[in-house]
Amino acid sequence: MKIAIVGSGYVGLVTGVCLAEIGHDVTCIDVDKTKINKLKKGLVPIYEPGLDVLLKKNIKNGRMSFSYSIKDGAKEATAIFIAVGTPSKKNGDADLTYVENVAREIAESMTDYKLVIEKSTVPAETGKKVAQTIRKYLPKKYRKGNKLTLDFDVASNPEFLREGSAVEDFMNPDRVVIGVESKKAEKLLREIYRPLKPKMVVTNINSAELIKHASNSFLATKISFINAISQICEQLGADVLKVAEGMGYDKRIGRQFLNAGIGYGGSCFPKDVDAFIRLSEKSGYKFQMLEEVRQINRDQINSFVKLIEDKMWIVKNKTIGLLGLAFKPDTDDMRNAPSIDIIHMLQKEGAKIKAYDPEGMPNTKAMTTGVTFSKDPYDLAKGCDCLLLVTEWAQFKDLDFEKIKKAMNHPVLFDGRNFYHDKKLDKLGFEYYGIGRPAA
Ligand code: UDX
Repeated sequence: MKIAIVGSGYVGLVTGVCLAEIGHDVTCIDVDKTKINKLKKGLVPIYEPGLDVLLKKNIKNGRMSFSYSIKDGAKEATAIFIAVGTPSKKNGDADLTYVENVAREIAESMTDYKLVIEKSTVPAETGKKVAQTIRKYLPKKYRKGNKLTLDFDVASNPEFLREGSAVEDFMNPDRVVIGVESKKAEKLLREIYRPLKPKMVVTNINSAELIKHASNSFLATKISFINAISQICEQLGADVLKVAEGMGYDKRIGRQFLNAGIGYGGSCFPKDVDAFIRLSEKSGYKFQMLEEVRQINRDQINSFVKLIEDKMWIVKNKTIGLLGLAFKPDTDDMRNAPSIDIIHMLQKEGAKIKAYDPEGMPNTKAMTTGVTFSKDPYDLAKGCDCLLLVTEWAQFKDLDFEKIKKAMNHPVLFDGRNFYHDKKLDKLGFEYYGIGRPAA
C-alpha cells in the first residue's frame, strides 16, 4: 500500500521504516528540512537500535522516500498516518496545534480518497475533531451544498512502542488497536498490518484513544505502586526486590514494571498521565488515583536526593558523578529524564557534577550548565566523592569496580535503579545504597 507518515520523530520514523520493511511504499514527511536531508542519506537523527540498518535497506530497495511537504509527499498515498508531537501545555492538556495543522493541510491538498490515521497520543474525541477539520478545509470543488463529493475516513491506531526496543516492538506487537468508523477503514488498516499477523482489537475511535491512555497510565501506576512499597520497605527494613519477585509470580500481577527506582521519565508516561488527568477532569471525573501516581513519581527523585544529602552530610563542593543520563537505557532521549532534576537539585546545593552516558551526553549538554562530561565510567569515577547509578545501561553492569574504587575519592555508590543489587559492592569496600532495600 502507498502510505505517508507525517512527522518523523521517534514514532513516525519507526512506523515508517517498519511499514516499508513489511512491504509498503512509504513516504516520511517532516517540516524539518535538516532532518529530511539526513534521512535521505540514510542517516537516523535519533539513537534507536536496529533502525539505521532497516532505513538504509529500504531506501536502497526503493520502498522509502522523504518529503518536506504534505501536498507532495501524501499525494499518492491511500493511508496517511499523523505522528506529529502533542506536547503538554502548562495546564497538562495536550497541545494539538500540530495535529490540527496537519489535518488542514491534508484536506487542502486532497484529490482522492484518503484514510487519515492518528498515531500520536491524543485525547479522546480528537478523531472527531480531525474529521471536522478535514471537512472544513476541503476545497470548494468537493462540496455540493452540505454534501462532500470526496470521500475520506479518520481512524485511530495508537502506538505502544518503547524507546530502545521500538523496532522489535513494532515487528512483534502484543496487539494492534484500531479505532474505525467504517468498514473501508477497517479493511485498509487490517491490510496494512496483515504481514505482522497481529492480535487485532477493533473498536470505535474514542475507545481506541482511551486504550492508549489507560494502558500507559496503568503502567505508570504499577511503577508508582512499587515505588510507594519501596518507601515502606525502607522504613521496615524489608527488601523491595523480594517483594516485587513475590508479587510478580502471581500471573495476574506479573513482574514487569515493578522495578522500584528514581521513577519514570521519557516522552510518554509523564505527559500521558498529565493529559489523562486533564481529560478525566474535563469529562467530569476526578482521577485522584492518577494524581497520586504522578506525585509518588515526583517524590522518588526528592527522596533519592535526600538520601544522597543525608549520607554525604555536606554536598557543597563535593564531586558527584552520574553514571547514566538518558531516561532509560538504549536511547539518547533526555525528555523528562530524572537525571536532569537530580543534577539541578545537587548543583543548587553546591555540588560539582560529572556525568557519563553512552548516548545521552550531547542532548544533556544543551539542557545543563556546569556539568563535566567524561569519556567513560572510569574517567567519570576520577576524583568523585560518590557515584549515582541513574540509567541502567547494560555496559555498566560488569564494570571493573576495583578500578572505579581506586579512581574515586571515596567509594560511595547510590544505585537509583537497584542495578547492582547482585554485585555485593559492599564486600568490595563500597558504601552502597539501593532503593527500598535494607542497609548492607
Ligand atoms: C512507554 C510505554 O512502555 C510504551 O508502550 C508507550 O508506547 C510509550 O511509553 P517508553 O517511554 O519508551 O515506553 O519506556 P518504558 O520502557 O515504558 O519506560 C518508561 C519509564 O519508566 C522509564 O523512565 C523507565 O526507567 C521507567 N520504569 C519502567 C521504571 O521506573 N520501573 C519499571 O519497572 C519500568
